Amino acid sequence: MNYETLEQAAAAVASRWPKARPRIGAILGSGWSELAESFEIRETMPFEAAPGLGKPGVEGHSGRIVWATLAGVETLIFQGRRHYYEGEGWTPIAVPPYVFKKMGIDRAVITNAAGGLREDLRPGVLMAIEDHINLMGANPLLGKHHPFWGDRFPDQTNVYDRDMRALARRAAASAGLTLNRGVYLAVSGPTYETPAEIRAYRALGADAVGMSTVPEAMLLNAAKLKVLGISCITNLAAGISKEALSHEEVGETAQFSMPRIKALFAAIWGEFAEAPPKTC
Ligand code: HPA
Repeated sequence: MNYETLEQAAAAVASRWPKARPRIGAILGSGWSELAESFEIRETMPFEAAPGLGKPGVEGHSGRIVWATLAGVETLIFQGRRHYYEGEGWTPIAVPPYVFKKMGIDRAVITNAAGGLREDLRPGVLMAIEDHINLMGANPLLGKHHPFWGDRFPDQTNVYDRDMRALARRAAASAGLTLNRGVYLAVSGPTYETPAEIRAYRALGADAVGMSTVPEAMLLNAAKLKVLGISCITNLAAGISKEALSHEEVGETAQFSMPRIKALFAAIWGEFAEAPPKTC
């Protein structure tokens, strides 16, 4: 991780929007970009304007940083994300968590598209991440300890904050939506899983599988931000589905789920508006 570059990225956002005081950070994963349209957008900047972030390498990721409000709550959105499988190391992935922390944000909502391993986690279902299993074979905090991310050995008992999960459940109930819960297992990708791997992951306790989110969640948690993780289940995992998996299917299902995603997020931001951070 290149800390000089991370610092430049934070400086680029702060100098572009000196008046920005976002309370919430959001990262929109595969197929989620359209959600930004729900927000009142103040200004946007391309990912490339933040050193180290670079252009998203995947279809379905807009690649803009968006300064916006929803329900009156000022929010900094990364519309799209960088992935470990893109092979550029941890710096691009660490930019959003680093920028959030630098801007004084204490709560982050991170989203993704995921394959469902459980009977009830079918395409189109929304799932609050309760916990994760990291099988990426890597950890963004490997290497020389840097105090920016807190302790050398960060506790991970409550990575997906309990209060944030309760808030999301309340929001879903108030909007009349079902929000499932489950354990997200992260792999590096870029290959999808084999059916044998999916059977193994089920035995390990995974409910959903994907190629993202866990590194950002680990960094945010280490930096003491409260994290809410939401997956849109876009497909049945390999072998459970009789069909071959494709990125197009992932994008189409997220698109199909967008009205419910927008309703859920409007309700979640409504809860954020009701419950300002204790430090204010
Ligand atoms: N596997 C891994 N990543 C994914 C999947 C999947 O089935 N669906 C969406 N992202």
